[in-house]
Amino acid sequence: MCGIVGYIGTRQAFPVLIKGLKRLEYRGYDSTGVALLSTNAMLNVYKEEGKVANLEANVANRDLGGTIGIAHTRWATHGIPSSTNAHPHVSQSGKLALVHNGIIENYSLIKERLTKLGFTFKSETDTEVLVQFIEYVKETHGVDTVTAVRLALNQVIGAYAIVLVDKEAPEQVIVARKSSPLVIGLGEGNREFFIASDATPLVEYTQNVVYLNDGEIAVLKRGEEMQICNLKNEAVDLDVQSIEMNIGLLEKGGYPHFMLKEIYEQAQAMKDCMRGRLLEKEKRVVLSAVCNHSERLLNAKRIIIVSCGTSWHAGLIGKQLIETFVKVPVEVEYASEFRYRNPVINKEDVVIAISQSGETADTLAAISLAKEKGAFIFGIVNAVGSSIARITDAGTYIHVGPEIGVASTKAFTGQLTVLIMLALCLGKERGTISEVEYEEIVTELAAIPDKIERSLACNERVADLAKSFTYARNFLYLGRGYNFPVALEGALKLKEISYIHAEGYPAAEMKHGPIALVDAEMPVVVIATHHELYEKMLSNIQEVKARKGRILAIVTEGDEGVKDLVDNVIETPPTLACLSPLLTVIPLQLLAYHVAVIKGLDVDQPRNLAKSVTVE
Ligand code: F6R
Repeated sequence: MCGIVGYIGTRQAFPVLIKGLKRLEYRGYDSTGVALLSTNAMLNVYKEEGKVANLEANVANRDLGGTIGIAHTRWATHGIPSSTNAHPHVSQSGKLALVHNGIIENYSLIKERLTKLGFTFKSETDTEVLVQFIEYVKETHGVDTVTAVRLALNQVIGAYAIVLVDKEAPEQVIVARKSSPLVIGLGEGNREFFIASDATPLVEYTQNVVYLNDGEIAVLKRGEEMQICNLKNEAVDLDVQSIEMNIGLLEKGGYPHFMLKEIYEQAQAMKDCMRGRLLEKEKRVVLSAVCNHSERLLNAKRIIIVSCGTSWHAGLIGKQLIETFVKVPVEVEYASEFRYRNPVINKEDVVIAISQSGETADTLAAISLAKEKGAFIFGIVNAVGSSIARITDAGTYIHVGPEIGVASTKAFTGQLTVLIMLALCLGKERGTISEVEYEEIVTELAAIPDKIERSLACNERVADLAKSFTYARNFLYLGRGYNFPVALEGALKLKEISYIHAEGYPAAEMKHGPIALVDAEMPVVVIATHHELYEKMLSNIQEVKARKGRILAIVTEGDEGVKDLVDNVIETPPTLACLSPLLTVIPLQLLAYHVAVIKGLDVDQPRNLAKSVTVE
């Protein structure tokens, strides 16, 4: 949450910062700000409530010169969204400016201490407390700014990624991180620096990056090599990595919204995810992480999946896949609950962490806990080089490219693809899946991207249907087996972007409570594809119909059994039950999208949300 950008070099900083903020706006978008150090050591700070475009428009006539700058797009934690609470925050003397992502947990104690010493605060934020504290340490210890940052951070409890500029040291930018992401891009001759919360603002300038580790401070001086030390002031070696990213994936490419583009990218994304892993001719799946760690993975007595939101829904499907084909018990945990409930974790356990961003604070904390107890951690992550990708023992990237729309779409299908491949690899190694079934699934998996394309053909029909649903205040989504988590995911998508209350339920569970809600006003979306629970699903549909519920059914192409019972059907291509979520989720993503568009809502940046949830 919150996006940070910084620059020091020979270019004008403002355009670099604004472009970077736009790339990071998915991380938070309630207020924005920049601080520019001009050549005559003036510190110009501009802040606005609202989105980056608002800031850009409002500062057009101001002094935007300067080749050093820091910027921030905020997702409020301490204090309402306002220009006062927006970052950068400036110290009392006006010399230091700071942007911050994370939470300083002991900020109120520090604030109390500073207030007693006569400091005053303009905002309600923990960030302003931190910048004042750094200044206080600097003055009382008579040290330089880098030392002051280090001494201050040693007294801070919490999470931070910070970038700081000092008007009196106008040739340097100071960067530090603990538990919040931060990456530094090395430009021209490795002596020009781009700083950001993730690599997307950097890729058009450089492929060489350094990911700061927890407890590290980097000093970036124009024209000099970067220096990194830890909180104990020990020098740290530079680990320069190379990243590759297709810039086209960061643009809307003619689509009205990133979300729609990302829904449409799913066939290609799945091919990218399977490339080099699913060997169609040999009818084989190879995951290098499984080959390299086979002993640890195959000896697991239990698998625990930790994740949040959409990634948790993927985990529920993963449980069914792994239990069916690998015959190992799997528990699926909300990372936020797992970390605080003293879970029993054994050394023989394998913990699978699923995360699109690789930065979700609760998932990171759950991993740390499981690691402490000796479990083996396997990551299923999209963002290359992200914190989760770096702290896991092994893992498989989903490789679906950057996901910018706040509502997750292609990451979900990518996560499912990796989970299926993982279950196949482990099942084959353990001998718990028959050769015939293994080959059948591999062959069908290879065919799914084309079937996703076919599923997308329903777009116009869904758009049309969506018009008749915008009145609804509540929705029920029902599914069974592999498609129960898809019902949860469909409901989450609708809630997130259309602000309509929606609940997902296992269809048979409906009669134990939620059926009381069903009346002629209540749209009920059922997933009733042609698989083993189809007949049972027909009975559940009858139960809804008897209460006059308005039913939209997702069915298999050519289905005859459902259409006379329901109000509308959307067809998806036939496939195996275990792969069906990859297809049934498509119309549900589109439905949420079109309802939100018709309601005139901000699809890509829905209210109150942020893409990367780096606070607990
Ligand atoms: C829903 C959504 C969120 C995320 C959740 C976990 O559309 O995007 O529910 O799935 O915040 O995020 P990651 O996968 O980045 O750990």
